[in-house]
Amino acid sequence: MVISGQEVWLWQKRAQQQAIAAHLPPHEIHWLLRELAGLDSLTLHLETYKTRSQIELKISLSELERLWQLRLGDRIPLQHLTGQVSWRHFTLKVSPDVLIPRPETEILIDRVAEVVQQNPQLAEGHWVDLGTGSGAIALGLAECLPKAQIHAIDLSAESLEIARKNAQNLNFAHRIQFYRGSWWQPLTTLVGKISGMISNPPYIPSALIAELEPEVSQHEPHLALDGGNDGLDAIRHLVATAPNYLHSGGLWAIEMMDGQAEIVTHLLENQGNYQNIRIFPDLAKIDRFAFAYRR
Ligand SMILES: C[S@@+](CC[C@H](N)C(=O)[O-])C[C@H]1O[C@@H](n2cnc3c(N)ncnc32)[C@H](O)[C@@H]1O
Repeated sequence: MVISGQEVWLWQKRAQQQAIAAHLPPHEIHWLLRELAGLDSLTLHLETYKTRSQIELKISLSELERLWQLRLGDRIPLQHLTGQVSWRHFTLKVSPDVLIPRPETEILIDRVAEVVQQNPQLAEGHWVDLGTGSGAIALGLAECLPKAQIHAIDLSAESLEIARKNAQNLNFAHRIQFYRGSWWQPLTTLVGKISGMISNPPYIPSALIAELEPEVSQHEPHLALDGGNDGLDAIRHLVATAPNYLHSGGLWAIEMMDGQAEIVTHLLENQGNYQNIRIFPDLAKIDRFAFAYRR
């Protein structure tokens, strides 16, 4: 699509003003021009395209405007407009059927890698990602645990379709087995054999969901968000059931919400089969991850 630099510049300025008026970050316009129209960051930053009589865009200005209006009017997440997200060094396909993987979840994989470095006996064997969504955690595990067998479970068939596609695109399909079912239900043959259970379960209290940003409350699947009355339904279930599946010394690790660390620690302590319970913060210093080991 060939167009004058001046036309693009005028569109950009108008869209940036609309963004400010709608309380959206104006840098989103650069993001759209880069990800959807194919302009590079330096050109956008220095505005060198402005005086060019012709520049080439990957999509027409009217299509760009249509997508921008979806963002502005319906608060559709940017990642849904491009259908992808950068997560660790992967580019993952996403859709309204899966949670958009968050940056804090990247750290969960780093913490797991550290645990395995300190406990090399965990490097092999079976690892599970319960509630895999886009497949992000399973892919992170497959990459950092090259000798492990990875099992990824989700209740949502649509999520699993995306997770499988991501595994194929990133050449990890041979490393990850996908199953549809509720939590451990598809893994009855692995009782007592699991080296690590990793999960970023739904953990938001039901009543809070309507108060989240519209990008989340209106465009992300509630199955991925809703943790029941106090947000802890799934976590309680994973605390209670995992000891049956983990072998002795096996890792139990979850992501949770700000404010849940104390109660999750108590749940693990009271269950009786866990030891060495630890809480780790995310980059914003929020207590975000709970790790424990099967006695
Ligand atoms: C917070 S999302 C996490 C997605 C992905 N692991 C990530 O970190 O981006 C929670 C996931 O749990 C799945 N889920 C919810 N209830 C489930 C259940 N009973 N059994 C298995 N998966 C479930 C949802 O479909 C969703 O994909």
